[in-house]
Amino acid sequence: MDQTAILKATQHFGKLLEVQMKSMEKIKAMPDWIDYGKLKPIKIGILAGDGIGPFIAPEAKRVLEFLLHDEVHAGKVEIRDIEGLTIENRAAHMKAIPDDVLAEIKKYHVTLKGPTTTPRKGDPWPNIESCNVAVRKELDLFANVRPVRIPKQGIDWIFFRENTEDLYALGPYGIDVDADISIDFKLITGPGSDRICRLAFEHAKKNNRKKVTCITKANVVKTTDGRFLDNFYRIAKEYPGIEADDWYIDIMTAKLVDEKRRRDFQVMVLPNLYGDILTDEAAEFQGGVGTAGSANIGKQYAMFEAIHGSAPRMVTEGRAPYADPCSMIRAAAMLISHIGYPETGKKLEMALDICGQYEKKMTITGRANGATGTAYTDYVMDWIKNSKLKTAWEGYVKG
Ligand code: IPM
Ligand code: MG
Repeated sequence: MDQTAILKATQHFGKLLEVQMKSMEKIKAMPDWIDYGKLKPIKIGILAGDGIGPFIAPEAKRVLEFLLHDEVHAGKVEIRDIEGLTIENRAAHMKAIPDDVLAEIKKYHVTLKGPTTTPRKGDPWPNIESCNVAVRKELDLFANVRPVRIPKQGIDWIFFRENTEDLYALGPYGIDVDADISIDFKLITGPGSDRICRLAFEHAKKNNRKKVTCITKANVVKTTDGRFLDNFYRIAKEYPGIEADDWYIDIMTAKLVDEKRRRDFQVMVLPNLYGDILTDEAAEFQGGVGTAGSANIGKQYAMFEAIHGSAPRMVTEGRAPYADPCSMIRAAAMLISHIGYPETGKKLEMALDICGQYEKKMTITGRANGATGTAYTDYVMDWIKNSKLKTAWEGYVKG
């Protein structure tokens, strides 16, 4: 047995624990929720991202600027671009987020972010950490909130994915112990589980939802998922009017496809990796990952993003103008609601629903046989400006 390898791995593990314990102290000492109502201006930063990002981000920005025109004019909101979060710049600095870009991001209360390339072993880029994951950790954006709604099928789900822990927390810090053995680390903390579960229940309470479902694999992954599940049921006791139940991730994946059962699910809360996988599946029913938005929420900052990747192949094949901007525009709708303009956010969501699920006058295929992102955004804008938007949407939803 290679005792040196064991010792080295043990020391590595010890260092990770030190870092983790320190960051736990920091998290416990964090200030409480920011009050957007007290900010003047609320500063919104746009991060275009890589690949198709620079094609879809300007479309989302255009919608945002149109809908918040009056607020910008009144000095209540400010919208600016933040440069430098590109794969080229990140690779040049060998960092998930270059220091100056991170400092800039921290000057904004909320950001709207395009997709960013996440390198992996064998890519032309150095194997640096995903910048999505790094931003989430740096700004302590502990909740990844992903709604999926298909009114005509009675589906109205909202996922509360824990966003800073689990296999993601130490994703870049695994160990190749020797020639044969590699180990990664899965981290779940009590405070981390409590705050995401509480947010899910608070959402249910505020929105009159009757049930919150926790999803784990606690029958196999006993310690970490076990803790998440225990904490879920402990928090559930604080919300006696709301039903709490739990499912394992494998059967949950199947149940989302089950047309007899899937309408029963409402609010779901789950650890990071299961949430990553399940929300892609859920978004597919709504029309694909191009149609779903994602909110990364923390107590001080929030970042809104498309749930899909940067699709570099679309760029090399010349198809980037045909990329679907809807996921990023949906993220913009979530941003608008989050900073205190829920009616404006809802308006944008209704326009997206009409265009994508009902009227469908135009479709995006990602190729020249479909609409361009710009033409599609014009289509969405026409509906936003249409005085009959609400009536039309209600008519469609009632069928
Ligand atoms: C997502 C993405 C990211 C994730 C990737 C790009 C790192 O898939 O936001 O779901 O795994 O969280
Ligand atoms: Mg994902």
